[in-house]
Amino acid sequence: MRQMLRKSKLDDVSRYEKPWTDSGSSLVADIDQTGIVLFKGLDPDSDDHLLRLGTMLGTIDVGIDEKLLGPTIMHLRYDPAIARENKLPAYFTSNFFPLHTDVSYVPNPPRFMLLHCVNPDPQGDGIYLLADCYAAMASLNDFEQTIIQKRVFSYSYPPNCPEGQIQNYAIFERRMWRYKHSSMCFPNQAKSTLKRFNQALSDVSQQLLLERGDLLIVDNHRIAHGRTAFDPSATSNSPVRHIKRLYATTLKE
Ligand SMILES: [Fe+2]
Repeated sequence: MRQMLRKSKLDDVSRYEKPWTDSGSSLVADIDQTGIVLFKGLDPDSDDHLLRLGTMLGTIDVGIDEKLLGPTIMHLRYDPAIARENKLPAYFTSNFFPLHTDVSYVPNPPRFMLLHCVNPDPQGDGIYLLADCYAAMASLNDFEQTIIQKRVFSYSYPPNCPEGQIQNYAIFERRMWRYKHSSMCFPNQAKSTLKRFNQALSDVSQQLLLERGDLLIVDNHRIAHGRTAFDPSATSNSPVRHIKRLYATTLKE
């Protein structure tokens, strides 16, 4: 087990900045190493960079119904009318998001999440939190690491979602991490382990405030992400926080 935990925790995230590349294989190799990659200064008024990078990584057809994921390119920005409905994942709220991996409830969650910043929050809030699950796992004892790898965790589908069936998964199995504390069911035996893992994730997390034009790629099978709250009512002449999101995944071999 200890040997498996070879990946080091995230460091200052600005170290993951990369120049543009046209090589999908070198991009995947970089993400295999670090879990995240950051591109700077890519025109966010165009979808071209998102679509090109997503396709270079494998495919942007991740095989999950739009009812769950939303459109291929999702515009993440505060919308009070939708946020209040509380029917689908909380894309449109401004509250704090604890660390989690995305779409953990489906059999094959997309491997990559691409986030392209059109406008940051004018107050400098809405900061991304990023945590390497391997690094969090490394601080657990052997018993806790065994619990993490047991198939005793179930992950709820979004409220009122007609798609899919809840199944049991391990938090870590077959080199994939699934974690969303707020919508997981687990046996009592795992309660203290989850609390410790949650704290460990928080301890190793790094903050990243995306600037306009920043494009962040996150390995959703390894890096948990969250977001600090922001105040959408703050008056400002600057445009409101707006992030474009695309999922991509590796092609089946
Ligand atoms: Fe998320």
